[in-house]
Amino acid sequence: MKFDLPRKSVRLLIRRPQVDDAEFFARLNASPDVRRSIGPVIEPDVNKTREKLRELQNSENAPLIIELLSTGGRIGYTGFVRNEDIDRMEIQIALDTPFWGQGYGTEVLDLLAEIWFGELNPDVLTATVWPDNNRAIKLLNTKGFLKVGEYVDSIYQRRHIIYELRKRNANSLALVCPAKLPSANR
Ligand SMILES: CC(C)(COP(=O)(O)OP(=O)(O)OC[C@H]1O[C@@H](n2cnc3c(N)ncnc32)[C@H](O)[C@@H]1OP(=O)(O)O)[C@@H](O)C(=O)NCCC(=O)NCCS
Repeated sequence: MKFDLPRKSVRLLIRRPQVDDAEFFARLNASPDVRRSIGPVIEPDVNKTREKLRELQNSENAPLIIELLSTGGRIGYTGFVRNEDIDRMEIQIALDTPFWGQGYGTEVLDLLAEIWFGELNPDVLTATVWPDNNRAIKLLNTKGFLKVGEYVDSIYQRRHIIYELRKRNANSLALVCPAKLPSANR
């Protein structure tokens, strides 16, 4: 899965991770709020995180850093990861809590859809969520993802809802008309 990075939207940049992003990842993965709807909290261990980042750097599962263009600060991570339980690539987005509810998730999702449908080119983009993740479900619904099924994962035995976005529905996304994105050129 090769695609061009870094990538910019109106307010954000996504880029490949570097080893010195390890502290940021370790902090985010230890945040109970961030992890509440995606998995158990991971005890912070910066050295292990560095190792993991080295391993993942050229992998299709590499988490991509999300930065704010205005400050250059990291606000979360995203990317495409293989979900072995359903044997598909799916999207992941995790933002640090101070950045929730400001449309950044929507902007990241637009970038992911642009990459997926524009450069990787499969017809369907997949996302899976825990059924109580109302914030993520709202985001997916807003962008035209439809619920297509459920599965129970093999590690935590949790129920997940599977959502799909079809390429033809993605044509209405803001990314295709960047002027529609919030605060563009204002
Ligand atoms: C899920 C997540 C990526 C959403 O990002 P975000 O930047 O907060 O989302 P946005 O601000 O773009 O909001 C998306 C929509 O959710 C709505 N929303 C915000 N908070 C909500 C809540 N508590 N319940 C329901 N909807 C909510 C917003 O109003 C918006 O809808 P709108 O377009 O109709 O206004 C972010 O909260 C996050 O990183 N959560 C932790 C990790 C996670 O759960 N990732 C997703 C796993 S699949």
